[in-house]
Amino acid sequence: MSNNLVTVAYIAASVLFILSLGGLSNQETARKGNIYGIIGMAIAFVATALSADVTGYSTLAAVILPGVMIGAIVASRVAMTSMPELVAILHSFVGLAAVLVGVANYLQPDPTLIGTEETIHQLEIFIGVFIGAITFTGSVVAFGKLRAIISSKPLMLPARHVLNLAMLGASIWLGFQFMSAAGMAGLQPLLIMTAIAAVLGLHLVMGIGGADMPVVISMLNSYSGWAAAAAGFMLSNDLLIVTGALVGSSGAILSYIMCRAMNRSFISVILGGFGAGAAANQSSSPATGQAIPTTVEETADLLGGAKSVIIVPGYGMAVAQAQHPVSEITKILRDRGKTVRFGIHPVAGRLPGHMNVLLAEANVPYDIVLEMDEINEDFSETDLVLVIGANDTVNPSAIEDPSSPIAGMPVLEVWKAANVVVLKRSLSTGYAGIDNPLFYRENTQMLFGDAKTNVSAILGKLLEAEASKAASGTVKVLATA
Ligand code: TAP
Repeated sequence: MSNNLVTVAYIAASVLFILSLGGLSNQETARKGNIYGIIGMAIAFVATALSADVTGYSTLAAVILPGVMIGAIVASRVAMTSMPELVAILHSFVGLAAVLVGVANYLQPDPTLIGTEETIHQLEIFIGVFIGAITFTGSVVAFGKLRAIISSKPLMLPARHVLNLAMLGASIWLGFQFMSAAGMAGLQPLLIMTAIAAVLGLHLVMGIGGADMPVVISMLNSYSGWAAAAAGFMLSNDLLIVTGALVGSSGAILSYIMCRAMNRSFISVILGGFGAGAAANQSSSPATGQAIPTTVEETADLLGGAKSVIIVPGYGMAVAQAQHPVSEITKILRDRGKTVRFGIHPVAGRLPGHMNVLLAEANVPYDIVLEMDEINEDFSETDLVLVIGANDTVNPSAIEDPSSPIAGMPVLEVWKAANVVVLKRSLSTGYAGIDNPLFYRENTQMLFGDAKTNVSAILGKLLEAEASKAASGTVKVLATA
């Protein structure tokens, strides 16, 4: 393929990636956005493989075929609830690739680069390897935390900020050594910096705990974009630069949005500064009291008597796959003239927009699915809230307990409603690993058990009531006839 054709293909792919990002920003257009992304990636892949730079097709096939097969199998098998882990481990591959490309580029210098061009190229290598190493180990730790292989509690080393600064300072000093080294002498500072950056990535993410992980995931997403862009500069591949910049900047914007939604400072996230509250939490008092258990029948009766209902879904609804019966309950209640809405916390579930995707899949109308800010003031005028498999996102200690690790994080203030029914299997904690005083409130009742089983049973009760109402209507009509 001629260079001009490759450039045209790259421009087309870049446009498709931008359209893809635009599409993904809205539920109604997300499917189309995905398709644009797939076509863009296919064009990018074919154009790169057919470009004049690529000659070793047997090596390429030997690497790509197993990669495509493993990727396809893993992606088709992954459960929606495990998606963040997959994304985290894929980010680590991008980081590792940037490190390997950087080192390979250094070991095989381009003889046509001289003077300023050579200096810029060296700088690209050093920065690319630095970002790549941080992304690699940070993403591996994030994967471990999401998989619960590593504890979600933050690692609070004494003087951790000083340690981070020392590692950053050492990397900069090694950068000067690398830039001024002649021949292959720069390899040593490059490799030492790689090891330090790897420890830095590990330490930054280990220091972040519990409920704050979503911000880390989007931040690592951003880092992986910049690592890819750096690899693009090293390989002089314009498409990789554009794509990396798109991923890097969209990840940074997402991190910023998440930080705002969770009332966290963006800078403290970048510096791995979360967890001051979490450390204090070690001494925060556990929630105590008597939880009031309830039954499917009582919950169905409460729903029957309520005029306004808000459903708050969380990770447990996703695990149980309860969204379809929830959608059917919503339809029945709305047909009865009740106001039914959904309240969605920005970090409910395990990935951004997790709940919105599940509800859209179950055909819940978009206009009754509201964001936390849109619905929080309405709880006090609501008869009944059904909390389905949510925990951290409805924890009042975020507002009431300054020593809580989630102190200051906005939550759905469900306890302000007249009645709250929480559907979960036990009184155990959620992802952040902290107790929830909501379960012991006077107006809260606990419906213990698997969310899908219980929601389906409630649906059964509501359908029974519908059927008996229809039957009594028929009897009345026959009696009057
Ligand atoms: P969580 O606080 O994690 O609570 C989910 C609850 O669901 C658990 O307490 C669990 O209680 C219950 N559950 C699990 N399986 C269930 C089942 N089959 N049936 C019924 N209940 C079940 O969820 P949340 O309120 O959605 O909050 C999300 C948390 O994850 C936040 O801390 C957030 O920071 C974190 N996180 C979010 C993201 C993103 S981007 N959204 C990414 C990473 C981490 P039982 O065991 O008692 O049933």
